[in-house]
Amino acid sequence: MDKIIVRGNGPLRGETHASGAKNAALPILAASLLAEGEHSFRNVPQLADVGTMLAVLRTMGCEAERHQGRQKHLCRVRVPHQVVPEAPYALVKTMRASVLVLGPLLARHGRARVSLPGGCAIGARPIDQHLKGLRALGAEIDLSGGYVEARAKRLRGAVVAFDLITVTGTENVMMAAVLARGRTVLENAAREPEVEELAGVLNKMGARISGAGSGEITIDGVDCLRPVDHAIIPDRIEAGTLLVAAAITGGEVLVKNVVPEHLEAVLQKLREAGCRIRAEAGGIRLSGPQTVRPVSVKTAEHPGFPTDMQAQLMSLTSVADGTSIISESIFENRFMHVAELRRMGADISVEGATAVVRGVDRLSGAPVMATDLRASASLILAGLRAEGRTAVSRVYHLDRGYERLERKLRALGADIRRVRE
Ligand code: EPU
Repeated sequence: MDKIIVRGNGPLRGETHASGAKNAALPILAASLLAEGEHSFRNVPQLADVGTMLAVLRTMGCEAERHQGRQKHLCRVRVPHQVVPEAPYALVKTMRASVLVLGPLLARHGRARVSLPGGCAIGARPIDQHLKGLRALGAEIDLSGGYVEARAKRLRGAVVAFDLITVTGTENVMMAAVLARGRTVLENAAREPEVEELAGVLNKMGARISGAGSGEITIDGVDCLRPVDHAIIPDRIEAGTLLVAAAITGGEVLVKNVVPEHLEAVLQKLREAGCRIRAEAGGIRLSGPQTVRPVSVKTAEHPGFPTDMQAQLMSLTSVADGTSIISESIFENRFMHVAELRRMGADISVEGATAVVRGVDRLSGAPVMATDLRASASLILAGLRAEGRTAVSRVYHLDRGYERLERKLRALGADIRRVRE
């Protein structure tokens, strides 16, 4: 198992770029199941989670390969006329986003058998809203033996009012509705850029979707879709993480391949923390402050501050000149980085869903362990600022969602390397 070793060595400087967005690539790869033929996806990040989604597609009988070498971000998926409409436990348990195949399978094959994802480190994460939406479209759903078994001759359009805002729930039901008979309206839909991106791809495939990016999405069902060639949008969370790396080290970094509008809430908080931020052609330049100012934030659905940046912002505020209050409102258990940051000298107390972060003058390197993807990133960020050696273990969490983060940071001057344990 790999470890990342970081030694704080001062300001990061230079230019880097964001890779393609994990959380856009996953639903888009699942959406390929909606059309027979060969799809081409570009700017697909090389991540463990993308590998898992490709494996899910292969178990269904698709050819799904990543190119190697210079074209390593190109991915082709060939979808046969008939697939095996089943996603097995062995794969779903390693990545809950595998459940995104449910909507497409049901829509095109009238049948799906998908393992029910279990809880995960950051929360219980049920899929009741996915199932509620699919039932509203006429699917019969049974849960047995740990699997969701769904059937429908042909789905029919309906009004689906989600009880809470769910990103993959919105995506799953939207993918099911594109081949349904008639009109579907999704109320209280997620407004994340990745949802809008998926709708754009589905429309390229011949779907008729409007309103994606707002809280109400309208889908007029069509009879069939065609394969697509598409380049995935940049990863706003990876970009935000790289910007915090510049901020926490008091450096100056240009992150290219970013859509600034996707990062509004994050940029706002980084400005409040004292960073100078400028949009440049195709990127964002950030200069970190001498002294980080405290900032308080409550995570929220887009366009609010993303839960996927909460841990990284906490690392930054742990060295601020004052006290910050950070509240997590999306997941019930997303403060697991706190105990590890404390081991590095941070002064953080947690009361329910709120963390009180009292800034300290210095962090000190320590062996730490990550328990989820964004927590891993936050510990690396803290390590960039800490005195001495930080060793982050269980790096497989990081590899699920960051394409060789340590290489990008090293190119900016960080003293960071990956070692085999
Ligand atoms: N929820 C329910 N019932 C449902 C669906 C969700 O109660 O049927 C709850 C969840 O338990 C959670 C809240 O609703 O408390 C929001 O969850 P959501 O469904 O929006 O999360 P998700 O779709 O499972 C995606 C991202 C996450 C990101 C969240 C929130 C993908 C593949 N994953 O998850 O990304 O944190 O939205 O923005 O898009 C990550 O990349 O590190 C990551 C965890």
